[in-house]
Order: sequence, then C-alpha cells, then structure tokens
Amino acid sequence: MIGSANGRPVSITGLGCEVPERIVTNEDIAEIVDTSDEWIVSRTGIRERRLAEPGTLAMSDLALPAAREALAQAGVAPAEIDVLIVATVTPDMAFPSTAAIVADQLGMPDAAAYDLSAGCTGFMYAIAQAYGMLAAGLSRKALVIGGDVLSSIMDWTDRSTLVLFGDGAGAVVMEQVDEGGFLGFELGADGGGGDTLWLPGSGSRTFEDPERFIKMNGREVFKFATRVMVTSAEAILDECGKTMDDVDVYVPHQANIRIIDHAARKLGVPREKIVVNVDRYGNTSSGSIPLALADAATDGRLRPGKLVLMTGMGAGLTWGSALMEWTSETEGIREAA
Ligand SMILES: CC(C)(COP(=O)(O)OP(=O)(O)OC[C@H]1O[C@@H](n2cnc3c(N)ncnc32)[C@H](O)[C@@H]1OP(=O)(O)O)[C@@H](O)C(=O)NCCC(=O)NCCS
Repeated sequence: MIGSANGRPVSITGLGCEVPERIVTNEDIAEIVDTSDEWIVSRTGIRERRLAEPGTLAMSDLALPAAREALAQAGVAPAEIDVLIVATVTPDMAFPSTAAIVADQLGMPDAAAYDLSAGCTGFMYAIAQAYGMLAAGLSRKALVIGGDVLSSIMDWTDRSTLVLFGDGAGAVVMEQVDEGGFLGFELGADGGGGDTLWLPGSGSRTFEDPERFIKMNGREVFKFATRVMVTSAEAILDECGKTMDDVDVYVPHQANIRIIDHAARKLGVPREKIVVNVDRYGNTSSGSIPLALADAATDGRLRPGKLVLMTGMGAGLTWGSALMEWTSETEGIREAA
C-alpha cells in the first residue's frame, strides 16, 4: 500500500515514552548465555537494553506513562481522544485489548480502542491508520502507542535472540493541523517469510513444542531487513516527490546498527541525519521508532519544518515508511530514561 497524503493535514502534536528502570548490560547477558560484549557490540551495536524484572510489567504499564506524557505535551485532555490504537505483540492479554485497558485507565469514555499486530512495524501501521481516520474526518484526536514487553516472550537460553531485544514504549498524539504533517505512507507484508521471525504457540494454532518464545532465523531476517529498509524508503520518497537530500531527520527501526548503516549507505544518508539509540535500548519492537523520535526531540533535531523519514520492519514479515514535515515545538520532551 502506498499513497501520498491528500486529505486534511494531520500531524504529531505530542510525544512521550517509557522504558523499565532496569539496565541490562552485555556483560549481564554474558552471565546468562555464552556470548560476549565484544560479539554483541560488533554484530549488533547494542551495549545495553532495558528489561523489566520478570513478571513485574505488562504492556499497559509502559503504555500508560508514555501516553500521559504525549497528552500533556499536546495539551490534549484524555477525554478528547476519540481513537486509541496500541501497536504491540505483547498485549497484557489477548482480550480485552491493551488499548481498552489504557483508555479506561486514562479516562477516555468515548474513544474507539483496539490493538494492532504488525510485529516491529506496528507503530508505522498504527500511525498510518490514525492518519487515515483523522484525514477523513472520522476522528478528531488520536492517540497511538507502540511498544512491547519483549522480555515476556524471550527465550533466556537462546543467545541468538536474547542479546537483541529490549522493553519500551512510545506514544504520539495525532491531530488535524493547518499545514505540514504527514506527506505519505508505504506499508507492506510478506507472510511467506512469516516463519523467519515468529512466536509459535501464541494463538489458536497448536504446535508440538509448548514453549512460547521468539524464534528467529537471524540471517534471513537480516537479508529481508537490509532490502526493505531501502526499498520502502525509496518508494515513499518517490511517491511524495522528495529525495533523500530533502530529508532532515532519518528515523530507522532500531534492530541492529549494521542494518541501519547498510540502509543509510544505500540511501545516501549522512551520519548526522540518522537517529540511533539501538546501543542503549536494543530492539524494542513497536517502541523503537517513537523512542527514537523522543531522542531526536530531546537533542533538538525535531523542529517545525524539518522533513522526517521513518522506516520500520519486522515480524510478518512487515515493513512500513512514513514521510512527514514536523510541525510542533518538542522542547520539554524528556529522554526515556
Ligand atoms: C542475529 C544477528 C545479529 C546475527 O549476526 P550474524 O552476523 O548474522 O551472525 P550469524 O547468525 O551468522 O552467526 C555467526 C556465529 O556467531 C554465533 N552467535 C550467534 N549469536 C551469538 C551470540 N549472541 N554470541 C556469540 N556468538 C553468537 C553463531 O552461532 C555463529 O557461530 P558459527 O559461525 O560457529 O556457527 C543478525 O543476523 C541480525 O541482526 N539479524 C536480524 C535480526 C533482527 O533484526 N530481528 C528483528 C527484526 S525486527
């Protein structure tokens, strides 16, 4: 799916994020499985990640503070939100949706609320959906939350996946604006690659192995990621009549610094335009892009008029890009922690 925005202008007006307090370093991971700081840094760029103490945090616990911060920054009261989407693969439970739980906790009596599952691309899918509803006039103010408590589905004996992931969430308020905002979206999915990154046993299909952990073919996902991070970005730039030179801030999904570097090299993005925080958070799935947006806001890169390119990819296999002209002052956003 690809399209340039031709409805009412819609933008992000508030931004918030949340990560667990507990910092887990590569040395800590090396005490659990056979790995080393040197291997993890050189193959992934990750130095530490935030992981909840087992059993202590659910998705709504991260979503709630992130949402409160985004609402405060936008100056929007919870009751004004008419649609809340939570992009996650680790909802509190299958139902009720985490979105319904969060809507109730925040006091959003009139909001439609639902969860969305698109792997690590969930946040991209969710902002595209919210854009569509806002631009068409179906919604007036939307809250989109992306995040995961991946520690709840990680195999703590599997070094090939344990080193990669972290917990975290981010939230954005989206509203109609006078001008600027989203220019377009490109989203896609290839279910044929679904079993290269999956969570067998997490739904209605029965599997022989009763363990419910992330399973991944790292090399295949790496090949997929390096391809779609480039093709998706090129497609949306082309669709919107822009080039990489026009882009001020590049916000790629934070899975592996080698994937980010590869995409940036192919796309011709200079280092200073790239937002990188995979070293501090690892891969936080749907939390990755909003956490990176919060970092860019904190370091002063997200200013009104700046052209921002976001590209995500993940389980499904899915991918998605959005191009937008940033419209709000984001001073006062705190770094996640
Ligand atoms: C997982 C990933 C970091 C592995 O890096 P890689 O360079 O492809 O490494 P390989 O899988 O080829 O493994 C190389 C060796 O390191 C070993 N290895 C794997 N994980 C290791 C670890 N944590 N510590 C030490 N050694 C490890 C392997 O066993 C292999 O050893 P061998 O050569 O003796 O068989 C990389 O493939 C990747 O990032 N893939 C994409 C994953 C991703 O982004 N998933 C989420 C998408 S949203």
